[in-house]
Amino acid sequence: MTLRLFETHEALSLAVANEILQRIQRKPTSVICLATGDTPLRAYQLLAEQVAKNNVDVSQAHFVALDEWAGVPPSNPGSCRHFLTQHVFTPLAIKASHIHLFDALAADIRRECAAMNDTLKSLGGIDLMIVGIGMNGHVGFNEPGVPESNYAHVIDLDEITQSVGQKYFSQPMKLSQGITMGWQNIFEARTVILMANGQKKADIMKRAVEEPISNACPATLLRKHADSYFFVDALAASKLA
Ligand code: F6R
Repeated sequence: MTLRLFETHEALSLAVANEILQRIQRKPTSVICLATGDTPLRAYQLLAEQVAKNNVDVSQAHFVALDEWAGVPPSNPGSCRHFLTQHVFTPLAIKASHIHLFDALAADIRRECAAMNDTLKSLGGIDLMIVGIGMNGHVGFNEPGVPESNYAHVIDLDEITQSVGQKYFSQPMKLSQGITMGWQNIFEARTVILMANGQKKADIMKRAVEEPISNACPATLLRKHADSYFFVDALAASKLA
């Protein structure tokens, strides 16, 4: 793991937008897996701006969602599908055949997970994964204690995730389960960038960087990945030794 520090969230977001852009420029058929949430939003806006300004061809790239709230319909602005459609797929004009999402309403969500694992295999694996970090150290919806052996799977959400997750919804929402890429998907991704910004992430970033590696704080597991990066702004890094 390489730690990269940025003064501001804006600088961090620009760096992440450039990483995505450069990856697609180097390999136009790249498979990019994206988190949703407050942390990466600005990076995705900057990515869309850069693509438009520099007329970059992203049409051959494939985009994959990192996770989804089980049972939340795609029409709900709090769903990961809605977020990625609004902030990435529509602005970049990505064709439907290059978008790979979990169907939160599927009758058999375990089959959805198996289908996602098969899709990733057929695409040749994930080239670049952008993830955030939860207040409990989760990555995707890999909550504390989740086995490292998992590929995409359905998971019972931790209480912290259920309550923090309310911020994405305009009305109280029952968030009992998530669908997420598992640690094996993350370990197999060629490059993983974890983003963290703001004072509220300072305690969990200290744990992610300094605690012994274990699934008690899932983000520590990323330190085992040969090409992983923690992109952190000054506030989120403020408690690091
Ligand atoms: C969302 C996801 C989550 C978030 C994390 C941080 O797709 O995978 O793990 O990255 O909960 O969320 P924000 O960025 O809203 O603080």
